[in-house]
Amino acid sequence: MSEILKKTFPGFMVLGLVLSVFMLGCPAGSGGQMVGVAMPTQSLQRWNQDGAYLKDKLEAAGYQVDLQYANNQVATQVSQLENMITKGCKVLVIASIDGTALKGVLEKAGAAGIKVIAYDRLIKGTANVDYYATFDNYLVGKIQGDYIVNKLGLKDGKGPYNLEVFGGSPDDNNAFLFNQGAMDQLKPYIDSGKLVINSKQSDMKQIAIQSWKAETAQARMDNLLVGFYSGKKVDVVLSPNDSLAQGIVASLKAAGYGTAAKPFPVLTGQDCDKINVKMMLAGEQSMSIFKDTRTLAERTVTMVGEIMSGKTVTVNDTKSYNNDVKIVPSYLCEPVFADKDNYKKLLIDTGYYTEADLK
Ligand code: BGC
Repeated sequence: MSEILKKTFPGFMVLGLVLSVFMLGCPAGSGGQMVGVAMPTQSLQRWNQDGAYLKDKLEAAGYQVDLQYANNQVATQVSQLENMITKGCKVLVIASIDGTALKGVLEKAGAAGIKVIAYDRLIKGTANVDYYATFDNYLVGKIQGDYIVNKLGLKDGKGPYNLEVFGGSPDDNNAFLFNQGAMDQLKPYIDSGKLVINSKQSDMKQIAIQSWKAETAQARMDNLLVGFYSGKKVDVVLSPNDSLAQGIVASLKAAGYGTAAKPFPVLTGQDCDKINVKMMLAGEQSMSIFKDTRTLAERTVTMVGEIMSGKTVTVNDTKSYNNDVKIVPSYLCEPVFADKDNYKKLLIDTGYYTEADLK
């Protein structure tokens, strides 16, 4: 008997060692299950950050992560999701490209018992989306609108000012909410004539920029300046996000804005991309909405953990996000604005960026 123990003891030791190494890599409760993370594109800084944070935090919680980017191609995203389902992912975290295009693939996910979290953008037209983690998108627009109202002194009766309005991608539900939030603030001043849209283009059908492309925004701004601003100056431009703001500024610069006689208009944005923070510091863009992607990633990882362990998933909104089939239980994080006066506190002191990032 003692001979057998002597012989098998090293074997037990090796097994013990292997098991403890494995368990160190997989904290209790996670079981190393796989989570699929589908992001829209790597062409914008924010999605790279979202993907990286999600992967890090999910892996730290002991999950395996299949992170994919779809180059803004809907068909690519659908096939990536199909792969994730085949590979046995238990939860899918999806920042959709076209919020209405995932019905078919998510039916397969639903049939396989896979839970789906819509990330940042609502997924529409399907019952097979379980939760939504996002920033309060209406509030994003409202903060942009309020910023314009305050910056121009509209409440004090100042004006009239020339305004042009841009909208986000028409396949992204967020674009409509950003627009609504901002226009609700601006409309009283448009109605009273204190804000004048010379182009008369304010409907989403006229102002939306497909796929949030900077170049398309630049081309539209070029057209507006040529068509409606000869001998006039545009004083304020509502841009829903930073990629559009980049295109708008390129156009303004080419048209000679940025001098004492022709200063840059008040210009909004969203995401606090490094390029745009630099543009704010250079006086080319007035503000950007700061949506701390670390917060959204953490919230999403909490949701994944709650789903995996069968707990009640924490949400803070059960009425705002109707996806045309159901109201999707949501967790809304709070956006804030950043400008040259508060960026240090928001972006540097919190470690989001270093000073060197913004040089
Ligand atoms: C996001 C924005 C982003 C835009 C373009 C929106 O859905 O909420 O943060 O700027 O997509 O990628």
